[in-house]
Amino acid sequence: MANFCVILSTVTLALFLTLNEATNSLSTSDINDTPYTLMHNYTHVCDPARFNDLGLDMTSFAYCDSSLPYDTRVKDLIDRMTLEEKAQQIGDTAYGVPRIGLPKYEWWSEALHGVSNVGQWNSIASFFDDEIPGATSFPTPISTTASFNQSMWKMIGQAVSTEARAMYNLGHAGLTFWSPNINVVRDPRWGRALETPGEDPYVVGTYASNYVRGLQDVEGTENATDLNSRPLKVAACCKHYAAYDVDAWLGLERYNFDARVTEQDMLETFLKPFEMCVKDGDVTSVMCSYNKINGIPACADPKLLKDTIRGEWDLHGYIVSDCDSIEVIINHHKWLKDLPEDAVAQGLKAGLDLDCGNYYTNYANNAVVQGKIKEGDIDIALKNLYVVLMRLGFFDGSLQFETLAKDDICSDEHIELATEAARQGIVLLKNDNNILPLSSDNIKTIAVIGPHANATSAMIGNYAGIPCKYSSPIDGFSAYGNVQYEMGCDSVACNNDSLIFPAVQAAKQADATILVMGLDLSVEAESLDRVDLLLPGYQTQLINQVASESKNPVILVVLSAGGVDISFAKNNANIKAILWAGYPGEEGGRGIADVVFGEHNPGGRLPLTWHENSYVDMLPMTSMTLRPLESLGYPGRTYRFFNGSTVYPFGYGLSYTEFSYKLSSSEKSLNIQLNKFQHCRDLDYTDGSFKPPCPAVLIDDLQCDDQNVEFEVEVHNIGEKDGREVVMLYYTPPNGIQEAPLKQLIAFEKVFLAAGESQKVQFQLNACKSLGVVSFNGNNLLPSGSGTIVIGNDLLSFPMSVNFQY
Ligand SMILES: *[C@@H]1O[C@H](CO)[C@@H](O)[C@H](O)[C@H]1NC(C)=O
Ligand SMILES: *[C@@H]1O[C@H](CO)[C@@H](O)[C@H](O)[C@H]1NC(C)=O
Ligand SMILES: *[C@@H]1O[C@H](CO)[C@@H](O)[C@H](O)[C@H]1NC(C)=O
Ligand SMILES: *[C@@H]1O[C@H](CO)[C@@H](O)[C@H](O)[C@H]1NC(C)=O
Ligand SMILES: *[C@@H]1O[C@H](CO)[C@@H](O)[C@H](O)[C@H]1NC(C)=O
Ligand SMILES: *[C@@H]1O[C@H](CO)[C@@H](O)[C@H](O)[C@H]1NC(C)=O
Repeated sequence: MANFCVILSTVTLALFLTLNEATNSLSTSDINDTPYTLMHNYTHVCDPARFNDLGLDMTSFAYCDSSLPYDTRVKDLIDRMTLEEKAQQIGDTAYGVPRIGLPKYEWWSEALHGVSNVGQWNSIASFFDDEIPGATSFPTPISTTASFNQSMWKMIGQAVSTEARAMYNLGHAGLTFWSPNINVVRDPRWGRALETPGEDPYVVGTYASNYVRGLQDVEGTENATDLNSRPLKVAACCKHYAAYDVDAWLGLERYNFDARVTEQDMLETFLKPFEMCVKDGDVTSVMCSYNKINGIPACADPKLLKDTIRGEWDLHGYIVSDCDSIEVIINHHKWLKDLPEDAVAQGLKAGLDLDCGNYYTNYANNAVVQGKIKEGDIDIALKNLYVVLMRLGFFDGSLQFETLAKDDICSDEHIELATEAARQGIVLLKNDNNILPLSSDNIKTIAVIGPHANATSAMIGNYAGIPCKYSSPIDGFSAYGNVQYEMGCDSVACNNDSLIFPAVQAAKQADATILVMGLDLSVEAESLDRVDLLLPGYQTQLINQVASESKNPVILVVLSAGGVDISFAKNNANIKAILWAGYPGEEGGRGIADVVFGEHNPGGRLPLTWHENSYVDMLPMTSMTLRPLESLGYPGRTYRFFNGSTVYPFGYGLSYTEFSYKLSSSEKSLNIQLNKFQHCRDLDYTDGSFKPPCPAVLIDDLQCDDQNVEFEVEVHNIGEKDGREVVMLYYTPPNGIQEAPLKQLIAFEKVFLAAGESQKVQFQLNACKSLGVVSFNGNNLLPSGSGTIVIGNDLLSFPMSVNFQY
């Protein structure tokens, strides 16, 4: 055994240090072979000519008979395999069974914000070459989320799946994509924030279901009644399940981490987005994570996998492990002193259908021979897998997607969508004296300064592919004036202050200065959590010196995923405006320049709380608790439980125009008649507060479909520019409920309003979905009493009460 093992993670691949047992067993021919050459020039399995090439008669294989239902065909396919052959199909590389016409299939592809070639040299199915040199690289999810535009989230998914399907047709991609990443960003230090939709479980779940529907849905069949045969454009995967958000922090690694989580936090925060992804998005796959949860590895926990995802949430699809999770169980967690066959058996029994890695393919056969699992346990996994491939048209082809080809990749339309996503994801944090937008009438020379002034690959973050092209900030601003470029720093780390002087000189001579600063994957990434929330190296000095010496406007643009403590710039009167651009994708530079020069009026909102740096000294990253822990002096986490001061709060974002709000109509109470089988439940109230006689009712006991409240908010653009506003609706539960969130986002809607225009935005809220709380003992309850609906950051609020009557 090697003295340390390297994990084939879904991206650590790029950082690979040495080969372990697992990778060694992938033969050279597997690595060199692009998976689809094994289909030998056919786009689907059940093509009579293909069988002919193999010397087989297709008509004798019932699994190719498209008149039969999928489960019958899949059963036929599985029943034809020997035990050894079955075991060969449950790894990410499914080796196929040439004897019966089943080709090799590589399950692993990624499409987090565009088709990705992460791990191209390993077993991943998607790749670029001279024939397909790149694909559209949309903004990273944290940026796209900041638009709070749900239809755009879905449109991006649709564009990505169109490109993916075209690449599949050309033998350059698989059909199963292990995206999106939907872990809640519980701690501002987490290195993978860029891959995610931020800190709020409702936003994360809403993003997940929209993006997944964009990737998966075939138009017109979204609401098919039989979800086991609903056709798929490509298959998506929500990951990493669950309570996974420590990567590598002060020597602690995700492979060893045991997340200690209460049932309350689990239901309310960590599982919520996954539940929405499965129930609302009808995703076809969930990936379990490396970490343990309360002592049990996530990928070996039948309660989490089989009972919850498949049982309670009714997954139609397969459960996959993060790459080499089974090895992690054995060698890192050293769980139950498992031998490989034990770990494989535990995975299969827990409901883990597919192993990204090769423990299943190497040891599942033996596990049956040793009596540790039944052959039938493998059959169940195979059934879950092949039904998905049937739905994707892998066996029968997919008429509506057959014509997608090279022209559909990096099309003008997709590049325009990537640009629009970059614009809509930009958040205006400061704009003193309405210094922005700048006007090219009086701004002729623009100093573009900073380690990101000429950003390219930094804008696409990780899990990216090769973009169609890049528009850097220099490119973007060149459309508006004469750009003077100075890096000011040698890199994002900015360890050398010798470049500050020329940068200051350039700023002094320019009509306006744009400082493009921030972080990149050298600071926040997979396997790399942050230790502070500051700008690295001399970046702060560079900003301060430019700001103090230049007479013309200085605008700060921050590229980052996680929040950065830029209080110094917020409080510096010489820095008139600040924008956060996330990691804005291949067209990021154009997006930023269009916002600065007013071609686009910014309407993005922060999907994360921007904490002060002192926050990280108050609590360790490893404490999973969301609520404040008074015994240890830890503050709460995320806007839902943190009541201290911040640099910028969750949901913050300005516009070049102004909006006013008015409640135009509302129902302010909901009276629910209980029958004799619906019992009152107790709920803890703080001492001295009024507790209603019937404090709450279990949500599962209510007829939820009827329990809706409606209201209408009139939004008025009272400024002089057209603009977009995100109407954000929060709920604060009735006063006195112990440990209830300070507030919880329950709905949001983006609207476009021309200057002077107003619009009535209607909300229909289901009380069970929006007004519930999770009690400490894990009950999902609808409390009675009067809570508060709050719009925006206290722009408008009104009481909303729930009353139970017998
Ligand atoms: C696939 O088709 C190409 C061109 O039609 C041909 O050169 C090649 O030999 C075929 N490959 C296989 C494995 O049949
Ligand atoms: C499917 O249902 C959703 C939600 O009810 C609806 O908005 C959509 O129009 C339906 N789609 C089709 C194709 O019927
Ligand atoms: C900006 O970066 C690109 C790609 O790395 C490079 O080709 C170009 O020369 C750079 N531009 C300047 C002005 O340095
Ligand atoms: C800083 O950069 C300058 C100019 O590139 C170089 O001459 C100097 O050696 C660098 N200093 C350090 C400490 O790396
Ligand atoms: C904020 O929360 C802490 C617990 O973390 C509590 O002690 C304090 O009273 C709260 N402050 C306010 C203003 O609510
Ligand atoms: C959401 O984004 C789409 C795609 O760019 C756009 O057509 C639509 O107008 C946006 N919605 C709002 C309200 O801005």
